[in-house]
Amino acid sequence: MSRIVFLNGSFLPIEEAKVPFMDRGFLFGDGVYEGIAVLDGNLVDNDAHLERLERSLGEVRIPNPYSRAEWTRLEEELARRNGMTEGFIYFQVTRGVAERDFMFPENAAPTVAMFTQAKAIVNAPAAETGIAVVTVPDQRWSRRDIKSINLLAQVLAKQAAKEAGAQEAWMVQDGYVTEGGSSSGFIVTKEGRIVVRPLSNAILPGITRKSLLALSKDVGIELEERMFTVEEAYDAAEAFMTSASTFVLPIVTIDGRSICDGKPGPVTKKLREIYIRMASSPRMAAE
Ligand code: PDD
Repeated sequence: MSRIVFLNGSFLPIEEAKVPFMDRGFLFGDGVYEGIAVLDGNLVDNDAHLERLERSLGEVRIPNPYSRAEWTRLEEELARRNGMTEGFIYFQVTRGVAERDFMFPENAAPTVAMFTQAKAIVNAPAAETGIAVVTVPDQRWSRRDIKSINLLAQVLAKQAAKEAGAQEAWMVQDGYVTEGGSSSGFIVTKEGRIVVRPLSNAILPGITRKSLLALSKDVGIELEERMFTVEEAYDAAEAFMTSASTFVLPIVTIDGRSICDGKPGPVTKKLREIYIRMASSPRMAAE
C-alpha cells in the first residue's frame, strides 16, 4: 500500500500528490511547518504544536487555513489512513502558487501538505547508546523563533555532523550554544541542575522543551534557563537533546569529548522516562 498524504483538501497516494511549479514554498522557501509525534495513536502535545503553527503563520502573515479542531481531524485521519500508531506527522503551509515576484500575491490560496513517517521513537537504539554531537557556527537568520521551511543552514550543519561521524550538530553563536540542527540542546550541571537557553528570537521555542521543563519541575529537578558555552557543555555532567521526533535523547560525546563517561546519564534517563509516560497519556500534555 502506498503512503497516503494530504494535499490541499484531499487524501491521496504520495505518487499522485503534485505541487505546482510556481509554489512559493519551492521558489522562495515562503512557508512554515510543524512536526508532531504520534505515540500509541495519540498526537503528542498537539495543542502546543498547533499554537506554535498559528504563531509562525501570523509572524509571516500567511492566513491559517484551518481551525485547531480541523487540523486535529486531518492529523488523526492521516495517521489512521496510514495505520500509523507511532511516528511523526509533518505538515507545512506555504503562501501558495503565483508568478514569481517577491511581494505577497494578491489572490493565492495557501498550499497545505501533510505526510506521515512511521518510526520507533520509544525503542530507538539511540536512546540506549546516546548520540554524538559536533559544534558548528550558527549561520541562520535572526528570526529562528519562526518554524520556517528555510532550513538550508540546518541542512549544512547536519550534513557536517554526519561527515564528522555525529548524529546532530549543535549550532554556536558568540561562543554560546543556540540549539541543535533540529532539536533543543540541554546540559546537566555537576549539581544535577538542567541548563537550557532561554527563549528568544535566537532559537525555536521547542514544544518538547516546554513540556519537559514543566515535567522536570513536577519531579523536583532544578532548572536554570540561561545561555551556556561550548566549554561548559564539554565539562557538563550530562547533555541531551529534545525534539518531537526523538523525545529526549542522551548526548554522550561533543566534538569527540566524552560526556558522563560516554554513557547516557541518570538525569537524562529519568527525563526520557517521564516524558514518554506523559506522551502516552494525552490529557497530561503541555498547557
Ligand atoms: N525539529 N530546534 C530546531 C531548530 C528544530 O528544528 C526543532 C524541531 C526543535 C525542537 O522542537 P520540538 O520539540 O517542537 O520538535 C528545536 C523538527 C523535529 C524537525 O525539523 O524535524
